[in-house]
Formats: sequence, C-alpha cells, structure tokens
Amino acid sequence: MAEPRSVVVETQDLAKMYGDGDAIVALDGVNLRICAGEFVAVMGPSGSGKSTLLNLLGALDRPSHGVCRVAGQDLAHVRDLDRFRSKTVGFVFQLHNLIPTLTALENVEIPLQEERMTDAARRQRAMGLLGLVNLSDRMHFLPAQLSGGQRQRVAIARALANNPSLVLADEPTGNLDSKSTDEIMDLLKKLNREQGTTFIVVTHNPAVARAADRVVTLRDGRVLRDERIENVYLEDLREFKETALGHALVDGDIPSDLSALGLDKLAASIGQLLRTV
Ligand SMILES: Nc1ncnc2c1ncn2[C@@H]1O[C@H](COP(=O)(O)OP(=O)(O)OP(=O)(O)O)[C@@H](O)[C@H]1O
Ligand SMILES: [Mg+2]
Repeated sequence: MAEPRSVVVETQDLAKMYGDGDAIVALDGVNLRICAGEFVAVMGPSGSGKSTLLNLLGALDRPSHGVCRVAGQDLAHVRDLDRFRSKTVGFVFQLHNLIPTLTALENVEIPLQEERMTDAARRQRAMGLLGLVNLSDRMHFLPAQLSGGQRQRVAIARALANNPSLVLADEPTGNLDSKSTDEIMDLLKKLNREQGTTFIVVTHNPAVARAADRVVTLRDGRVLRDERIENVYLEDLREFKETALGHALVDGDIPSDLSALGLDKLAASIGQLLRTV
C-alpha cells in the first residue's frame, strides 16, 4: 500500500474580514486539506478571495479567525514569520518583482543569503536552479533584458531556492501569451513531479487549471467546489450533460431510437452517471 501522504496545508474555518466593522468578508469559513505533492489550482471570479487565501497561507496576512496550519505549523504561533516565509513557502506572483539592478543569477541568490553556505556554494545552487528552469544561458542578464516568460522562470527558480514545502503562485501566467503560459505550466508540473513540491496556483485560465490534479473554486469567500481531476473524462461528461441528449438522459427520458436498439438499460446508466457530474 502507498504511504499516507503528509498534510502540507490545513485550514479550519478560515476567515478574513476587512474594513469598518468587518464590512468586507473576503474569506468566509474555508476548510481545506492539501497533501504533499498535490498540484492545486484555485479558481473563482474576481473578488472571490483567491489572493486573500494565498496571503494567509503564506503568512503575508493574518486571518480574522480560524486556523491555518502549513507544514505542521500553526501560523498563529509561528514566532519568526520572516523565517517561515523564507524557508517553508516560495512565492511566485504575476508581477515577478525581481530586483531590476541584479542579474537573474543574483536574484535567485537572494533567498540563499541567510543560508550558512559559502559564496561559491550559493552561486552553485543558484546556477543549478536556473538550469532547472532552462535559463543557464541567461543567468547574467538583467530582468529588463529577459522576456516576460523568462522573468517568470527566474521568479520560479527564486521561489524554489530554499526547497520550500509549498509554492504559492498567484496568477503566475497572468501576463503571458499562451506559448509562455504552456511553458511555465509544463515547468511547474515537472517540478511537481520530479521534486515532489506542492503547488497552489491561483488562475483564471481553464487551460492552466487543467494541468492541476485538483481544482478548488471559491465564490464569495467560500469553497464552492473542490474537485480532484482523477477522471480525465469528467469535463467531457459535463459538456455532454449540457446537450439535448444529455438533458434527456439526466431526466430519464430514453429517446425512442435508443430504445429501438435495445439500449434502454445503457442509456439509463449513462443518465445516472451524468446526474453525478
Ligand atoms: N486590503 C484590503 N482591504 C479591503 N478589502 C480588501 C483588501 N484585500 C482584499 N479585499 C477585498 O476582499 C475581497 C477578496 O479579494 P481578493 O484579492 O482575495 O480577490 P481575488 O479572488 O484574488 O480577485 P482577483 O481575481 O480580482 O485577483 C474583495 O472584495 C476585495 O475587495
Ligand atoms: Mg487576486
């Protein structure tokens, strides 16, 4: 039997309010459990609380109430939050906030400054990370000399510098064309598979979400859906459900031409299946 996977993220009744008298409810009782090695996409309309959730998980902000545990630590009781942010989580944002006056290599070295390692070892590790994101030939370039996709790859290498348990990415492909988007997603999936890094990626892009093994959809600060994409046919079934024949089968109306072929039982089973998707 497979080993049970460790839980990397656990939230209980997580809530965040803003404004006078907590007028704005950004998150409203979110319960999530995410295991090591999962690749989770977070979707939902603008203002549904996606970034707020990421900010709480990364300890960039504090919840109004509820519990948030990351890598076994209750964030309310973490003494050294700076250390937590630099050791346990890696952040990738849409605006990659690379330091413009530093080269790609120097940007990736920043999170390693606190590590007790020699300058040579630090450089070696940063070079290895840039190799991982396929940018060995650009390591001495400044951010302004890189394309948007290349800059995002530097940001990903930087996020991985300290071997974080969890990478939080807020629309990491938001400002990229579809080719660069595919490249970044392929890279994140590769890192997820090969390094076992856990990813939580906020996205509006269904193509990006399709790369995930689980999609959490927020609406008005609540989890509207939490789906594991184990069945690759799920989306196809949903599409079929919305057709005239799909609607009929869901309602248990077996079209006469199917009956004539003796397919009543099969049609009824498909109807039953469609009611569950
Ligand atoms: N610092 C803040 N002060 C007041 N309200 C805030 C603050 N940050 C977020 N909100 C509100 O909380 C709600 C959730 O915002 P959040 O940024 O999490 O949404 P989102 O799902 O990331 O949206 P988008 O897809 O547009 O990025 C919104 O109504 C927003 O206006
Ligand atoms: Mg957002």
